[in-house]
Amino acid sequence: MAKRVLVTEPIIPSVIEELQKHFTIDVGERGRYNSEEQLKKDISPYHAILPMLSNPITQSVLSEATNLEVVANHAVGYNNIDLEAAKKHGIKVANTPGVLTDSCAEFTLGLMLAVARRFYDAQQYLLDGKFESWEPLGFLGMELKNKTLGIIGMGRIGQGVAKRARAMGMNIIYHNRNRVEKKTEKTLEATYYSSHKKLAEISDFLTLHCPLTEETQQLIDAEILSIMPNHAILINTSRGPVVDESALANALHNNSIGGAALDVFENEPEVHPKLHSAPNCLLTPHMASASYKTREDIGMLSANAIIKVLNGKPISEIPNLIQP
Ligand code: GLV
Repeated sequence: MAKRVLVTEPIIPSVIEELQKHFTIDVGERGRYNSEEQLKKDISPYHAILPMLSNPITQSVLSEATNLEVVANHAVGYNNIDLEAAKKHGIKVANTPGVLTDSCAEFTLGLMLAVARRFYDAQQYLLDGKFESWEPLGFLGMELKNKTLGIIGMGRIGQGVAKRARAMGMNIIYHNRNRVEKKTEKTLEATYYSSHKKLAEISDFLTLHCPLTEETQQLIDAEILSIMPNHAILINTSRGPVVDESALANALHNNSIGGAALDVFENEPEVHPKLHSAPNCLLTPHMASASYKTREDIGMLSANAIIKVLNGKPISEIPNLIQP
């Protein structure tokens, strides 16, 4: 009998078709598996699961997963998966590094421009019928050229942002758990700071590209926000809990920073109510990797890990395994 795979939500059809060549596939309805309870109930017959980042793959879910061989997350971030528990149960875990770098880096630049040049407010103004004639003092924003961009998290996506921001004439400074190679720093023309506080103090734009860990939880808190320049713009496309949303909302309402763009939230899909009315704050629904090509590549990379694991291929053939 063919092995069974649960894809927790509808994804790009070619990925499902690829998996169907090898296994019996069930595809969950949108949002069905955002709860631990539902996963616990349904998971036992499956040999592999392809979950979304919104699905909690916890210890209690994995203890019901008696046939499970692999979890192949449909995301590069994997804070939704209890890695320790997976290890204990002998379940392999894969993610999708590399394939979404360009999409997320481009999106980040888009957010920077959108907030700095006030795209959203300007469109709203126009739609509200307020555009009566060309205004010499209307929507005066901040250019990217010659501004300092602070990048927290200089992995693939952080580097992708740095490269693009250099092309816009920005000065790049960064903080990372480990300093990147000198050669990379040179290519990116990026300067390392051992303290993220220093970065916050001197950046015109501060963008977050770190994973969510104990160290990065609430990294951007009231104290950091208070030392950012009044005109500075914060961008978060990493994980919501890296930022204290309530402190950010206060900083925006008090004009102690100049603006923010958030693609991720502390309690997705909820958004802190004070952010709804915060000035110069752009909110998008966790979509930095959302291009057709990238979402297909993400799906294929996850599917490939499942195909290889369930067909007993050596782990050396599965470079995107985080945990063999
Ligand atoms: C998206 O947030 C991802 O981690 O892939």
